[in-house]
Amino acid sequence: MVKIIRVRDYDEMSRKAANIIAAQITLNPQSVLGLATGSSPVGTYKNLVAMYEAGDLDFSEVSSYNLDEYRGISRANDQSYYYFMNDNLFDHVNINKDNTHVPNGENPDADNECTTYDAAVRAIGGVDLQLLGLGRNGHIGFNEPADDFAAATHCVDLTESTIEANKRFFASADDVPRQAYTMGIGTIMSAKKILVVVSGADKAEALYNSVCGPVTPQVPGSILQFHPDVTIVADADALSKFPQE
Ligand code: F6R
Repeated sequence: MVKIIRVRDYDEMSRKAANIIAAQITLNPQSVLGLATGSSPVGTYKNLVAMYEAGDLDFSEVSSYNLDEYRGISRANDQSYYYFMNDNLFDHVNINKDNTHVPNGENPDADNECTTYDAAVRAIGGVDLQLLGLGRNGHIGFNEPADDFAAATHCVDLTESTIEANKRFFASADDVPRQAYTMGIGTIMSAKKILVVVSGADKAEALYNSVCGPVTPQVPGSILQFHPDVTIVADADALSKFPQE
């Protein structure tokens, strides 16, 4: 079931999403979080850091598994998702870094990396709360529009649209890695709860198609319609294709 929480803007989205994650950690201090990178969750992470600094949140027993990582990028590169997570969250809270996991983009053996990652997620009992952003083309993780849903963690070729969207973080489009390791749709769907943060008019079509369109691998986010517990926190611009109340 998909529940939508409508908010005014990015800041309100970030506060609401952080409150949902904080409630999860408070109710189950040993929560396994699935985490995302990109612009959408940055404000959520800022709010979580503020709650930690205020003494309201304890990450000491939390574990995390990130959705994805560019393939062939060094962990020291400030555009790696490994770097992003430390910079935006892990360096600022009391999470045990040994319990944080990001696919290793430095492992050239894709099969080995992906199989090991899925096995680790399974071994810990799966993700309790998975945070997602939504791509402009409807992708979740780096599961791009395709002819079928890929279940397990796998290596993907990034689409031109994603390279174009992500080039803002690199010196030029040529510097954007062409491949990534990503949790598969099956891995994402096996999370007990899913929280999606969506902001901005450029996401409106993808959000509408994900929630109201047919479930199709051409819109990877549409698979969320089949999950029993999805909460989408979306701002007015992202919801602009939905009927207004
Ligand atoms: C990030 C990820 C991607 C992003 C999506 C939206 O780990 O898996 O699916 O969530 O590309 O990116 P932003 O938030 O930058 O618009």
